[in-house]
Amino acid sequence: MREAHVYCELVSGTTPWAELEARHPTALILSGGPASVYAEGAPQVDPAALRAGLPVLGICYGMQLIAHHLGGEVAPAGKREYGPATLEIRERAGIFEKLPSELPVWMSHGDHVLRLPAGFRPLASSVNSPLAAITNGAGTVVGIQFHPEVVHTPSGKEILHNFLHGVAGCRGDWTPGSFITDAVERIRAQVGTGHVICALSGGVDSAVAAMLVDRAIGDQLTCVFVNNGLLRRNEAERVLDVLHGHLDINIRYADSTDRFLEKLDGVTDPERKRKIIGAEFIQVFEEEAKHLGHIDFLAQGTLYPDVIESTAPDTAKSAVTIKTHHNVGGLPPGLRFTLIEPLRYLFKDEVRRVGLELGMPEEMVYRHPFPGPGLAIRCLGAVTPERLEMLRGADWVVVDEIKKHGLYRQTWQAFAVLTPIQTVGVMGDGRTYANVVAVRVVTSEDAMTADWARLPYEVLARISNRIVNEVPGVNRVVYDITPKPPGTIEWE
Ligand code: XMP
Repeated sequence: MREAHVYCELVSGTTPWAELEARHPTALILSGGPASVYAEGAPQVDPAALRAGLPVLGICYGMQLIAHHLGGEVAPAGKREYGPATLEIRERAGIFEKLPSELPVWMSHGDHVLRLPAGFRPLASSVNSPLAAITNGAGTVVGIQFHPEVVHTPSGKEILHNFLHGVAGCRGDWTPGSFITDAVERIRAQVGTGHVICALSGGVDSAVAAMLVDRAIGDQLTCVFVNNGLLRRNEAERVLDVLHGHLDINIRYADSTDRFLEKLDGVTDPERKRKIIGAEFIQVFEEEAKHLGHIDFLAQGTLYPDVIESTAPDTAKSAVTIKTHHNVGGLPPGLRFTLIEPLRYLFKDEVRRVGLELGMPEEMVYRHPFPGPGLAIRCLGAVTPERLEMLRGADWVVVDEIKKHGLYRQTWQAFAVLTPIQTVGVMGDGRTYANVVAVRVVTSEDAMTADWARLPYEVLARISNRIVNEVPGVNRVVYDITPKPPGTIEWE
């Protein structure tokens, strides 16, 4: 929907109509799902939402919900239908406006609509689904049995577009520019004459959040950039240069390298490292905030996936802590500020587009993600200044080669890991006993799953050769070929 420039939000199907109505939606879309509408505990929708006169599109299970709640009948199909099908279209109007009379679509369902609710009519059929698309008398409540959202339905985008613009009358004027205008107005109204603090991590999310707040209220914002000593080579300088130099944002720079490294002295357990870094960050941040006097608000770059994850039904939440994530923008529990989260409803790619629109340099907009605890979790075992320097050298080579070969934008992350292993090697005529560096380059859409990048051998060869030659203390380089799952992206 958002790709069609229509703003949309995901809400739970259990949301009562009164609550939905208060959000003034233009239209509703009921998603697909694997359940059967009759099954006990099957996800339902408040029937009032279907009778409110709002345009509704039900996809697969969503269509069955419409039929079920408006007086039709849903039953198990004689044959489960899964895979490609050909749609015979009866009415080339509404969602099928300007489309041919036959369309390849993707089906995936066990139940189907057996009998239409009163006043409904079929719009299209397939061999196994006589009611493959249906609508009410006014043409405003539409159900489709196939999946327009998958690539195997080549006209899917047009169908959704037709629903949004033709059936529902959405304007399609939600763009990065309009988002910025709205966000700036909202921030101004929220902040008034108050003061805002924002923690910069060097990543794109906190930087874009800061830029929006800066555009809204300028001098009432102060950003804090904490150098925890666990950043990559030249990172602090580069970030400050971009944010300070080009964008003219108030920044307090706290070089706390020594404090962090002292606290990490002798610590090898990854979870302990994470906890120590998180706690120390809060301390430094609190001290910095105190210098600024009275602060009312904390701006942070929370994104929509975090919001969805934290509001998902319990069944969707994982009960196991794989890694204690530390986000530099995270609200320190001891600090009582009101939150400003201008990116709360955006996905990462949208944040990037907003960043570009705000004038952020491409180099910053397309930076790979970098974990809050930084190199500490890529320096397996003890974190010492010497080992960090070694890791920085190797990391520099990996990113440099990936960029030189034009692979940076195609990969999700590319980095080096310093292992706690030493192996024997031979350099010149001498025996060496030195460190093993692992190279990790992955492709991913959202970091939930990932695959190792099939880098050309020449690139791997060049990375290995340069690391061993340029980074003293390393005599062996290995490439990680584990997808996620079962591996995670970071090693720790
Ligand atoms: P894993 O290693 O769990 O990482 O596959 C998934 C993604 O999250 C990043 N990551 C972090 N990001 N704070 C962050 O903001 C953290 O503490 C953190 N730990 C891991 C990781 O780099 C990958 O992109």
